[in-house]
Amino acid sequence: MTDKTSNQMWGGRFAAGPDAIMEAINASIGFDKRLAVQDIAGSRAHAAMLAATGIISDSDAEAIGEGLLTVLSEMEGGEFTFSTALEDIHMNVEARLKDLIGEPAGRLHTARSRNDQVATDFRLWVRDQIDAVDAALVTLCRAFLAQAEAGADWVMPGFTHLQVAQPVTWGHHMMAYVEMFGRDLGRFRDARARMNECPLGAAALAGTSFPIDREMTARALGFDRPCANSLDAVSDRDFALEFLGAASICAMHLSRLAEELVIWSSAQFRFVRLSDRFSTGSSIMPQKRNPDAAELIRAKTGRIFGAGVALLTVMKGLPLAYSKDMQEDKEQVFDAADNLMLAIAAMAGMVADMAPDRAALEAAAGTGFATATDLADWLVRVRGMPFRDAHHVTGRLVALAEEKGCDLPDLHLADMQAVDSGITDDIFEVLGVHNSVASRTSLGGTAPERVREQIARWKEALK
Ligand code: ARG
Repeated sequence: MTDKTSNQMWGGRFAAGPDAIMEAINASIGFDKRLAVQDIAGSRAHAAMLAATGIISDSDAEAIGEGLLTVLSEMEGGEFTFSTALEDIHMNVEARLKDLIGEPAGRLHTARSRNDQVATDFRLWVRDQIDAVDAALVTLCRAFLAQAEAGADWVMPGFTHLQVAQPVTWGHHMMAYVEMFGRDLGRFRDARARMNECPLGAAALAGTSFPIDREMTARALGFDRPCANSLDAVSDRDFALEFLGAASICAMHLSRLAEELVIWSSAQFRFVRLSDRFSTGSSIMPQKRNPDAAELIRAKTGRIFGAGVALLTVMKGLPLAYSKDMQEDKEQVFDAADNLMLAIAAMAGMVADMAPDRAALEAAAGTGFATATDLADWLVRVRGMPFRDAHHVTGRLVALAEEKGCDLPDLHLADMQAVDSGITDDIFEVLGVHNSVASRTSLGGTAPERVREQIARWKEALK
């Protein structure tokens, strides 16, 4: 006889139940209840397969399938009482199923282990999450496209080292982010394609002697195929790590953009005004409009990177196949996924709402001798100077402008000719910021016509 206090799922050889501390460290139900939908889908696919292969009867499979739907609706309706004594979502579901349908519930776990069960549930969960991230990233990219279209030919300073470098177009800057988040989309999609194999049927680690049909369960759950090696199937968490890797790079991109928004919305820059919907005030300083959402997006990067490091560390010492260490995979992924989704959604809202200040962007575009390279290029093109000499002449003209406290286009022709006698009136054309950006027509360059090509290409790609 099994002691009443021992576990009803595996208590056969146990005389006593676990210590309270043992129960506390062992239980995962506090967080893996988030796998309920996936767990029930996996169990329903498994039960249907057991019946199709004659391992259990059709009537038992039917009772199991129906009962599982009842469990699901109890959970969704908030009527389900989760039990820590039952450790995890798998045993909570099965125990309730037993209450509901009795004996057939005990047949569900034939040819299955919690090891392949949790591996399947978690893959399904991460896969769903990737689909949600995918849609959110597409929304974000569309917000950039709208900004880029509206200001494809607006000029602004381009920076290197956060020092004014050369004028660029607003549209060009927006489209740089579409490239970045477009690569993120690609990384999530690659990870999804690689993870889309089904662990179910690997059982504890070695497979099973029952005549199961793994192709059938894989298909039913939307996987491309079953995992090929049962040991690997239950011990692999690469899919979660790849998700965290893609999430980390995406979070890093979001953080760089957040940093730009913090700078751009400052009183010193005034490049953009963030909407009321995505700004906060100060309880003491009435003039303040703080970019809190951008700052929090920048900060959330820390926990997302942290999740990746934590799970890599959990996994790195584990021999094949399953070890309980792997239970620590979920909270990291849940937290990273929740915060990434929040960050992308907040960023999409901020980008869609933000109002770039065209006049401020244009005024800033001309400062800092931004067209010095255009001047040097003119000397090369028109005067036939080697670029190094042109660079030197331009440097002297910049020094002259600095001395006079003016910008390059404000220099008098005579003063310029004193530096290089071959300079003519035509030079003023290339010193203007609009001409500067219009001239950069090389592939991928900042010229408005090139930017409009990029916009058209991405609009098509994101359809
Ligand atoms: N709660 C466990 C986890 O998340 C489920 C698998 C338990 N397997 C086992 N052999 N104890 O990993």
